[in-house]
Amino acid sequence: MVFFTSHLLSLFTILYVFAGVASAGIIKPRSFSGSNLYYAPGLSKAQRTVLLDGMQSAGMKVLRVWISAQTTASTKNTTITPYNSVEPDTIGVYDDTVLELLDDFMLDSFARGIKLIISMHSYNSLASGDVYSDTYGVEGFYENTTAQAQFDARLVHIMNHKHKTLRLAWKYLSPFIFAFEAENEAMIGLGQQYIVDHPQWQCDRATTIKNQLPKGSNIMVTTGGASWLDESVQQGWLDCPAIDIVAVHAYGAGDLNTTKIESYVDLAKAAGSRLMFQEWGACYYDTANNVCDYGDALDVATRNANIALWADQITAAGLPWLYWQVLPNADPHYDYDYEIGVNTDPSWPTLKKAALRAAVAPAAFDFSDCFLGL
Ligand SMILES: *[C@@H]1O[C@H](CO)[C@@H](O)[C@H](O)[C@H]1NC(C)=O
Ligand SMILES: *[C@@H]1O[C@H](CO)[C@@H](O)[C@H](O)[C@H]1NC(C)=O
Ligand SMILES: *[C@@H]1O[C@H](CO)[C@@H](O)[C@H](O)[C@H]1NC(C)=O
Repeated sequence: MVFFTSHLLSLFTILYVFAGVASAGIIKPRSFSGSNLYYAPGLSKAQRTVLLDGMQSAGMKVLRVWISAQTTASTKNTTITPYNSVEPDTIGVYDDTVLELLDDFMLDSFARGIKLIISMHSYNSLASGDVYSDTYGVEGFYENTTAQAQFDARLVHIMNHKHKTLRLAWKYLSPFIFAFEAENEAMIGLGQQYIVDHPQWQCDRATTIKNQLPKGSNIMVTTGGASWLDESVQQGWLDCPAIDIVAVHAYGAGDLNTTKIESYVDLAKAAGSRLMFQEWGACYYDTANNVCDYGDALDVATRNANIALWADQITAAGLPWLYWQVLPNADPHYDYDYEIGVNTDPSWPTLKKAALRAAVAPAAFDFSDCFLGL
């Protein structure tokens, strides 16, 4: 209780400052930045402190996390508390371990003014065989109405998880949670045409999420991106009333281009929707930026120039962005390698400066409601 009271006080201070500056007419729609860490629920207190202090020092406001099984062996040399998926063996039989780990995490992120995007399933889990793809196959997961209803029940279960110390369901925790999303990169393995042909799945899941949230909630509903810009932005998602933010994932250098991004900003504005750049990164290797699982290391100066250029090009198009990913430990250069270890990495100061520039840049859309808290 003491915890909650003191944090409520700091929240009210933030609201007061926001309201004061806004009523003085100083604020124009403002951008922000943040990061991804898909296995964040497993971090120890010490790892959380390193990561979140570093993000806070970079003015980062949002961290995107996933709810899917994770072991230390599947991370980037981060020794985590392993955890199951929320439905490890049977659809509808829930293991809340990951949710309870995230309960701890979100107290520490909130204390640093960082809100979470909670991605409640991942295409990666389907592709590697989880309870849903084992039962329905990957296409069946998206198309079978029983599968849709069972997946909706999972979303409802997660949003109604009662925080173990705050004793409120997550769907009420808007000071802690920026957005819910149904699935990371839904349908990407089935190709762009499949995504184009099945826009309703996202809108139906978003409607399930929206219907759980209290009316007027400042928790947003977002999509979970796709493989590149054109795939990530579907008209049916821009037009879906339950989707507040359409998320862009893109790694190809051609997509990290102000002019190109601006054409999608225009589409979103025309539909009365919003975009954010939810995943991008600068490859550690000297390969094409979207092919980053092998190669020779780029020299640090070139990689840093890429980071600054692409971050600023996204910022110039008016989109907030989340980097893939900032690590609490040194980047071990395992597998696909866009990561930057907080504090230790020679590219961290460059990313940090780009993030601080984003924090004071104008945005193409008004995101102030996302930070109002209660
Ligand atoms: C959905 O999946 C269930 C269980 O596998 C199956 O019995 C049913 O026929 C499927 N429905 C359709 C429309 O394919
Ligand atoms: C961005 O794309 C535009 C239009 O295709 C092109 O003219 C411009 O050179 C690109 N900018 C950069 C920095 O690559
Ligand atoms: C992984 O982390 C351990 C310490 O936890 C360290 O000794 C080792 O060098 C790291 N491996 C790589 C490849 O960075």
